[in-house]
Amino acid sequence: MQFNPQEISALAQAEAAAPRMDMYAFIHKALRAFMTDTLTGLGRMDADDDLELSQTGARVLQLLDFCRSHLHHENAFVHPAMERHAPGSAATVAREHEGHEQAIAALAAGAVQLMHCPRERRARVAHALYQQLALFVAHNFEHMHQEETGHNAVLWAHYSDAELAALEGALVASIPPDEMMVTLRWMLPYMTPAERAMMLGEMRRNAPPQAFEAALGVVRPQLSPAEWGKLARALGLAQ
Ligand SMILES: [Fe+2]
Repeated sequence: MQFNPQEISALAQAEAAAPRMDMYAFIHKALRAFMTDTLTGLGRMDADDDLELSQTGARVLQLLDFCRSHLHHENAFVHPAMERHAPGSAATVAREHEGHEQAIAALAAGAVQLMHCPRERRARVAHALYQQLALFVAHNFEHMHQEETGHNAVLWAHYSDAELAALEGALVASIPPDEMMVTLRWMLPYMTPAERAMMLGEMRRNAPPQAFEAALGVVRPQLSPAEWGKLARALGLAQ
């Protein structure tokens, strides 16, 4: 995919258009944050520090697990909804997902290799893994953009916002609690303050109190004092 300057001019049109339900927006913010943080963390790792090596390797594996689950959710919920009304519309991205599964397996093997690597070879193995993870991240950034534009166009043409919200609700309900905590860890800090307050406000209304408290506990250490202050004011929490 080439960078297309004309898409920048689409920004102006976005202002005029009525916003539609975008089920990719928040989870893709989470993925972009998780990917870049993990990649840059690998790039600055001290390969001579055993603890840092094992923590960084575990983080890479956690990211890869998250990416695998994410593409399974899209395959299971989003693609069938598209194919039902527009046969073939999810085929290109579905094929890319097959490639992602292979890339994830190869990167996971590389991370395990790094974690068990003799000390004298660690730095070279770490750099090779860093380069391959960078390519995976680069490809995923383009892939996510395709989903946010092409896939959303198909979804918006065939479904109402209420139907899309129901589809997203079914997808979210299928996510196990431990994966949900990882999702919130990478989603909530990297949203705008308004989006963060909206999501947590909905959680407070609809989820058990312990889930809301757990989400606050996950997000607070990741926010600046100013960001926490905005959230606390929006939710009427003690600061
Ligand atoms: Fe995808």
